[in-house]
Amino acid sequence: MAFKIGLLGLGTVGAGTAEILLNPELRHPLVQEIEIGKVGVRSLDKPRPVDLPADLLTTDLEAIVTDPNIDIVVEVIGGLEPARSLILKAIAHGKHVVTANKAVIARYSDEIFDAASTAGVYVMIEAAVAGGIPVIQPLKQSLSVNRIHRVMGIVNGTTNYILTRMAREGADFDAVLADAQRLGYAEADPTADVDGLDAADKIAILASLAFGGRIKLPEVYCEGIRSISAADIAYADRLGFVIKLLATALREPSAPDDATDHLQVRVHPTLLPKSHPLASVNDVYNAILFEGDPVGQVMLFGRGAGSGPTASAVVSDIQNIVAILKATGSRSPHSTADLHLLLACIHQ
Ligand code: NDP
Ligand code: HSE
Repeated sequence: MAFKIGLLGLGTVGAGTAEILLNPELRHPLVQEIEIGKVGVRSLDKPRPVDLPADLLTTDLEAIVTDPNIDIVVEVIGGLEPARSLILKAIAHGKHVVTANKAVIARYSDEIFDAASTAGVYVMIEAAVAGGIPVIQPLKQSLSVNRIHRVMGIVNGTTNYILTRMAREGADFDAVLADAQRLGYAEADPTADVDGLDAADKIAILASLAFGGRIKLPEVYCEGIRSISAADIAYADRLGFVIKLLATALREPSAPDDATDHLQVRVHPTLLPKSHPLASVNDVYNAILFEGDPVGQVMLFGRGAGSGPTASAVVSDIQNIVAILKATGSRSPHSTADLHLLLACIHQ
């Protein structure tokens, strides 16, 4: 029997997700039988880049999240509401959820994961941080035996693209931002990218996973790239530096003899020596550097935004849920800890 997906949103990420789901060759052989059950959009008249039967499309998103035939709800509409309420309603109706929505997860993860645990369903968020880079699963699985001290990265594709083109061509800020929007990198409201808020959401999620507990957004220092001029970039270059929007989370003892950890979580433009591993991460690429014991340094690199890379992360989450449900012979849930353990075995 096929697993039915309720896809909320058919924009940059939703269309990329549908494209993969409609192409069986791109899916893991374990989970060939995934089908798109319904697709929720705002407008039925818009031309779409993917060829879907018209009767799959609806503007009634509530009906999708309550539909007894839907197994997994994929939320890629973005924004806080109605995304948060739809996710919670889907969970309450026993659906597993995959979301790319860092704004919702950074603010409401307690509420959402508590609800999921009560309902016994999975909520997967790989696409919410750094687009196509697998970072959530590695942090929860392979790196979980480490004590992480520092997470530092370029986690916003739009601003990295803008800074790269300003440095390379002396390009005008507004013109490059328009290109980033056209390429599907920017948020619906690009203020979230430019002012560092999107990077703040992502580093809050990563820091919460890396250090345990939950980092609240007001605790994250946040400064975007609006004040950076082409002249700043040129001066930095002459001095041997590049300017990057870095997101950093740091754990250090409050004092040498104090066992209490002090956390710093911040987003701001940073001068990086050209020899630094993050200095050569350009265009829409993201990279995240972890430092921990005993692993030392681990750096993950890839495309941080855009349709294909982000859809890759969304579909990997869908596949992982389906793989685990198939492996355990049930549609009923297991704990999240079981999920990660079982996934490691299934994919061997
Ligand atoms: P888009 O703006 O391209 O697409 C949003 C889609 O959701 C559209 O199809 C829109 O319908 C639909 N939609 C929005 N609001 C509603 C609503 N109230 N009711 C019904 N349908 C609605 O966004 P993206 O695909 O770029 O982003 C989606 C999510 O993925 C966001 O949370 C974003 O942060 C996240 N993300 C995006 C990445 C990217 O590179 N773009 C990368 C990683 C995460 P319609 O088409 O009819 O207007
Ligand atoms: N607007 C985001 C970015 C999308 O540019 O990084 C990926 O999360």
